[in-house]
Amino acid sequence: MQWWESAVVYQVYIRSFADDNGDGIGDIAGLRSRLPYLAALGIDAVWINPWYPSPMADAGYDVSDYRGIEPSYGTLGEAEAFIADAHTLGLKVILDIVPNHTSDQHEWFQAALRDEPGARQRYLFRSGRGADGDLPPNDWGSIFGGPAWSRVADGSWYLHLFAPGQPDLNWEHPQVRAEFEDVLGFWFDKGVDGFRIDVAHGLVKAEGLPDRGNAKTTHPAFDQDGVHEIYRGWRAIADQYAPQRVFIAEAWVPSSERLARYLRSDELHTAFQFDFLRAPWRAETLRAVIDDAIAGAESVGAPPTWVLSNHDVPRTVTRYARSQPASLVESEWERSRWAEEQADHDLGRRRARACALLQLALPGTAYVYQGEELGLEEVEDLPDEVRQDPTWVQSGFTDVGRDGCRIPLPWAGNTAPYGFSPPGGAPTWLPQPEHWGAHSVAAQQDDVDSVLHLYRQALALRPGLWVEAGAVRWLVNTPEALAFQRGAAQCWVNTGDTEIALPERLSVILASGPHAVGVLPPDTAAWLAAPCES
Ligand code: GLC
Ligand code: CA
Repeated sequence: MQWWESAVVYQVYIRSFADDNGDGIGDIAGLRSRLPYLAALGIDAVWINPWYPSPMADAGYDVSDYRGIEPSYGTLGEAEAFIADAHTLGLKVILDIVPNHTSDQHEWFQAALRDEPGARQRYLFRSGRGADGDLPPNDWGSIFGGPAWSRVADGSWYLHLFAPGQPDLNWEHPQVRAEFEDVLGFWFDKGVDGFRIDVAHGLVKAEGLPDRGNAKTTHPAFDQDGVHEIYRGWRAIADQYAPQRVFIAEAWVPSSERLARYLRSDELHTAFQFDFLRAPWRAETLRAVIDDAIAGAESVGAPPTWVLSNHDVPRTVTRYARSQPASLVESEWERSRWAEEQADHDLGRRRARACALLQLALPGTAYVYQGEELGLEEVEDLPDEVRQDPTWVQSGFTDVGRDGCRIPLPWAGNTAPYGFSPPGGAPTWLPQPEHWGAHSVAAQQDDVDSVLHLYRQALALRPGLWVEAGAVRWLVNTPEALAFQRGAAQCWVNTGDTEIALPERLSVILASGPHAVGVLPPDTAAWLAAPCES
């Protein structure tokens, strides 16, 4: 088995991981200094959110130079030293490539604004509709809110599926293709082991940019068949390197069948299965999502890829801290309902611990978002004036967006910045809650009941119990219990309100919470050793 088929990948949101120079913003030096922490956690690889020069219209997903390092994060030399250090510790390094759009400060867009010959062809400029051309060229909305079109001084419109500072590239243009293939090689040559592909389903738009109309599940800007040819080209580049270089797709598509198309043998290696993080804490739904994800990945011989949390969605503890929806969450994370129901973080944390054991027992690869291993909750009460996510402004101040899962990590101590920055530094770029000392790395380090300790134990046991254990064989089929056997081990999860009996003569190797012999309490998971063959 190749490393990427079973890896546990830790997502580093670099802005909020560790700040070395005291400006309140995470940086490469801070990340480098905490590499021993990551190695001790027992992960196989890190994926780092964009670290390229950026005006930060969208926290680095607006890239102005794909071959550089954001000055507030460090230098190219530091990045190279980081890659070398990670490799010395046995960790692979995955970067984030943002091919759907550039920053509006990128030299290409600046040339387009000046209307230099041919420069606008690299983006999606169109004339407006209406008598004076003052209506957007089509009905597409930005993911962050408002129209997906903005107008430049001479009256032309350009497409931005995200913020106005993130103009969409025209992937029909040969220079766009050549440029990104070259960027891949630039970083592969520096030893980078792979790329997470941002908005991998967005690059190619339907011919003529037609209106979306009332379509609910499909969108002319997403998941167009033409995108696959791009990834065949990328795969050919990756395959020229040894050791192997890999891709992970961020592709929000309507079904596992559509997702599998990105994973055909001459395209990408893995793709996030987002239904797993959209699923409520209900055994039935989780079982259905798991079966579906495995079947989809298997149909093309790819490893399923489990993700419970990332920098775009409310933290797992908080998603599980209230009554659970009946089915997969569609959008907005039910924040309007959340406003009416008090969060019970202890409950959410028990469930998140149990779900971590479920995630790490499944076949394939798993992603852990920084702070998940500390059991951090979403910060839901940020003051409006500190919010940074463009969603807040673009939604007309109706959607608070994603800042609450991007708060700087607590490392030690009882007051902000909790060791995130050195003492006496500038305030952190987003404020940390007052009670986060209890969740710091230092507070959990030697506590055997801590979330951190659970992750360390699970990651240490995972290679022996699960990595080579083969297919999932379901053991029970009730709305509250989820149980499966893989190889010699079993994983049991109780999402209901009453305890369930565990099979006799099995011993619990690891449990997500306290339990009496032979029973699994509500909101708890356990890994069991299978009976000896007789
Ligand atoms: C992806 C990123 C998200 C970003 C968006 C636009 O969804 O994960 O953070 O805002 O792409 O680049
Ligand atoms: Ca810094």
